[in-house]
Amino acid sequence: MPSSSPSSSVNGFIGLSPRRRVQPWARAHRRGNNIVIVGAQWGDEGKGKIIDVLSAGADILVRYQGGHNAGHTVIADGAEFIFHIIPSGLLHRGKVGLIGNGVVIDPKALLEELGRLKARGIEVKRAVKISDQAHVIFPYHQQLDALEEATREGRIGTTGRGIGPCYVDKAARSGIRIADLCNPQAFAERLRTVVEEKNRLLKALYQAPPINYDALRRQYTAYGRQLAPYVVNSVQFLQEAMAQGKRLLFEGAQGTLLDIDHGTYPYVTSSNSTAGGACVGSGAPPTAIDHVIGVVKAYTTRVGEGPLPTEFPDDLMHRIRTKGKEFGATTGRPRRCGWFDAVVGRHAVWVNGCDAVAVTKLDVLDDMLEIQICIAYRDGRRLLKSVPSDTTVLARCRPVYETLPGWRQDTGRAGKVADLPAAARRYLQRIEALLGVPVCLISTGSTREQAFKVGRW
Ligand code: GDP
Ligand code: IMO
Ligand code: MG
Repeated sequence: MPSSSPSSSVNGFIGLSPRRRVQPWARAHRRGNNIVIVGAQWGDEGKGKIIDVLSAGADILVRYQGGHNAGHTVIADGAEFIFHIIPSGLLHRGKVGLIGNGVVIDPKALLEELGRLKARGIEVKRAVKISDQAHVIFPYHQQLDALEEATREGRIGTTGRGIGPCYVDKAARSGIRIADLCNPQAFAERLRTVVEEKNRLLKALYQAPPINYDALRRQYTAYGRQLAPYVVNSVQFLQEAMAQGKRLLFEGAQGTLLDIDHGTYPYVTSSNSTAGGACVGSGAPPTAIDHVIGVVKAYTTRVGEGPLPTEFPDDLMHRIRTKGKEFGATTGRPRRCGWFDAVVGRHAVWVNGCDAVAVTKLDVLDDMLEIQICIAYRDGRRLLKSVPSDTTVLARCRPVYETLPGWRQDTGRAGKVADLPAAARRYLQRIEALLGVPVCLISTGSTREQAFKVGRW
């Protein structure tokens, strides 16, 4: 085959495009400032707080999966705010939050959240953008979520927000997107087909009463009108932002072990909460991601069913749950608590490609005499150093612990690593060694001020 390629390149192009004609989006990906923040355990790691802290250095905040199953707490200026669908950095003025195509949106919940932000003085019309490709959660999704949980052998303990059934419809190509909702004619037709199908299912499987099509169409057409001013083509929006040199911060909801592919299946959520999800869930290309930070609690928690190898015995469970206020930010359910699991942490570092981890809630361990870290699992005579994919094996694994001394001092006022007691530093160094990545940020309390960066981060 005759070669027509010139031998030299301009800006990495094969020479057909002179430098001045290289399009802005070809340059935009080389800036090095775009970060993904992911939960590295089973959710509720304190992502909201870390995102709030790191948002100061970002321009656009992007949520890329999940829905209002998430509850991300930010405590700023003495007041608590819980984000469910909107990106958690928006209490900082001048930021823009994009709800990506990978998110599933309950319009009522979103409008309520917008209202709460507005009440905090945030100019939401300017600050919030919604992808027209995001899928919409309908009441029948929540109804099916509840019915499936009630009849399923081995409950998952979902949040009941309709998340799973909405993603099922997306994959089955029966979903309705924000773009459809904003087109009343097309929406009316599509909804009619979907409602007929759902009514057949509800009657045959659950003997449930039918959905009223007209009422649903009216209600959701009105939501479409209310949301329309926020709706954008998110791919174009992100390309233009990158071309202008804007810095992106991608916010994962849930956690690595709740990821539909890389978590403790079937006790997972229905989306890709891991860093790879940031691209498919927003339209940003993989080459746009420069760094990934995993968020870990200094211990472990989990809400809902499924294995938790390092789960505490009752007395310790009660103590840590009380001190750490471990109750769900979305459902209020008590969280199950356990020791830090380095096997889980390493799995998260591998799957997400974390450059570093942020450690939260170190203060909750302040009065422990001794602290345990799980460094491997024992399954009968086998020693496992990675998370087994067979969840029944994980459920019977026994943790292998290493014991470290506690520090029995208050860390809540620490402002730098040197302020931490030596035993706390040793604990964090051990986490670094076991996970193979540096700790970049340490949080020792729930407020914005109770966090500090480490080293070059
Ligand atoms: P997310 O879902 O990962 O954003 O986490 P949640 O907001 O559901 O749960 C984390 C909880 O821990 C919230 O109540 C936070 O206010 C709180 N929190 C975050 N960081 C710290 C910390 O370093 N110390 C303490 N004591 N609480 C923290
Ligand atoms: P954030 O973003 C903790 C859990 C549920 C259940 C499973 C499936 O605040 O960390 P779903 O309703 O998603 O189908 O439930 O996932 N779960 C979470 N656990 N934090 C969350 O979000 C969660 N979102 C879902 O408890 O076990
Ligand atoms: Mg949460």
